Amino acid sequence: MKIRLVTLLVLLGGLLLSATTVSAQETESYSQAKPEDMQWFRDAKFGLFIHWGPVSLKGTEIGWSRGGERRGIKGVGPIPVEEYDNLYKKFNPVKFNAKEWVQIAKDAGMKYLVFTSKHHDGFSMFDSKLTDHKITNSPFKRDVVAELAKACHEGGLKLGFYYSPVDWYHPDYRTENHKRYIEFLHGQIRELCTNYGQLDVMWFDSLGGTAEDWDSKNMFKMIRELQPHIIINDRAGLPADFGTPEQEIGKFQTDRAWESCITIGKQWAWKPADEIKSVSECVHTLVRCAGGDGNLLFNVGPMPDGRIEPRQVVRLRKMGEFLNQCGESIYGTRGGPFPPDSWGASTHKDNKIYVHVLNWESDKLVLPPIKRRIVKNSILNGGVCFVKQTAEGIEISTREPNKKKIDTVIVLELDGPAADAMK
Ligand code: GLC
Repeated sequence: MKIRLVTLLVLLGGLLLSATTVSAQETESYSQAKPEDMQWFRDAKFGLFIHWGPVSLKGTEIGWSRGGERRGIKGVGPIPVEEYDNLYKKFNPVKFNAKEWVQIAKDAGMKYLVFTSKHHDGFSMFDSKLTDHKITNSPFKRDVVAELAKACHEGGLKLGFYYSPVDWYHPDYRTENHKRYIEFLHGQIRELCTNYGQLDVMWFDSLGGTAEDWDSKNMFKMIRELQPHIIINDRAGLPADFGTPEQEIGKFQTDRAWESCITIGKQWAWKPADEIKSVSECVHTLVRCAGGDGNLLFNVGPMPDGRIEPRQVVRLRKMGEFLNQCGESIYGTRGGPFPPDSWGASTHKDNKIYVHVLNWESDKLVLPPIKRRIVKNSILNGGVCFVKQTAEGIEISTREPNKKKIDTVIVLELDGPAADAMK
C-alpha cells in the first residue's frame, strides 16, 4: 500500500513536471522564433519597405497628415479628416504592377519586401471582411496585398506585412470599447496570416503601445500557429525576434538581430520632388548596417499612379550593381570583427574579413591587431593593395586609382575562421 502511494506521488509529480515543461515551451514558442527561422533574415541583409495608400494622392505623410483626433498622441495632421478618409474614393493607381515592384526589389539585390497592409490611418490595403474602409472599395477595386503576395511568392522574395495596431479611424480604438477593437485587430491579423500564403515577417508599428494594449501574447500565439516559420519585429510591446532602429543605423550588436528602417527620401509615403539620398549614401547605409551585424529595410513610397518613382528606381538599380560586384561581402556575412568607424565598416564570412573603406581618411588605414595571420589579400572590386600585419595592428594602403568612389572592398584571407579573429 505504502509503495503504491509513493509510486502514485512520483507519477503525479512527473505529470506536474511535464505540465510545467510544456507551458515553458509554449511561452518560448510564442515569444520567440526558432533560431533556424531567423537564419534567412540574418543572411538577407537587405529588404524593401513600401509605404503606400490613398494618401499618395496628396503627397503628404501617411497616417500623420490625417487631421482629427489621435487618441492618446498629441498633434493634428494638416489634411481635414473628412478629406483624408475619403481619398480612397479617388484612388485608382492603374499603373500598379506587383511584378514590376518585385523586379525592382530584386534588381536592387533585396531579398524581402515589407508592405503597409494598414497604417495608422486605418485604411486596409487588402480585402478585409472586417471593414468597408479598404482598397477593394476604391475605384481600383483590386486587392493590392494579394497581388504583391503572389508576385513575391512567384519571384522568390520573402514577404512581410507592416501592420499598425494604432488605428485613428476605428471607432472603438482606445475608447471604452477598446476590447472590441482588439477583436478587430486580431481578426485582421488572422486574415493576413491566412489568406495570402506563406508570410515571412510580421512588422508591427504600435508607437510605444504595450503588449496589454493589443493582447499581444494571444495575438502572437495565433500568428505563430498560422505561420509557424514567421518572424516578428519588436513593436507590439514584446521584444520578439528583432529590433527596429528607425531612420538611423543600428549600433554594432551581434547577439540580437536588428533591422534599420530608413527612407530613400525624407518621407515614408510619396512626396513630390522629395530630396532623395545619393547612390553613395544609399550604398553606405547598407554597408554600415551589415557592418553593425544588422539589416537595412530601405523604404520607397510609390506614386498615386502605382509606379515607384523613376528617380528612386535609378538609385535602387545602382545599389544592385554594387551588390552584383560585391555581394559576397554583404550577403550571408556577419558584422565586424572591426567595429564600424568613420573610415567604414567590416563584415566577415568563413576565413575572410571584408574591410569596406568608405572614406580614405589618410593614405593608410590602420586597424587593430587580430589573432589570426593574414595569408592573402585583394580588392574585391578591382586592384591590388598593400597589407602590413604586425603585433600592433594592420596597415592597409593602395594606389590612388584603386580607391573606389563609393566603397573599396578589401578582402583579408586568414589562416582560420574570421569569427573569432579578435577574441
Ligand atoms: C513610425 C511612423 C510611421 C512609419 C514607421 C516606420 O513609427 O509612425 O509612419 O511607418 O515609423 O518605421
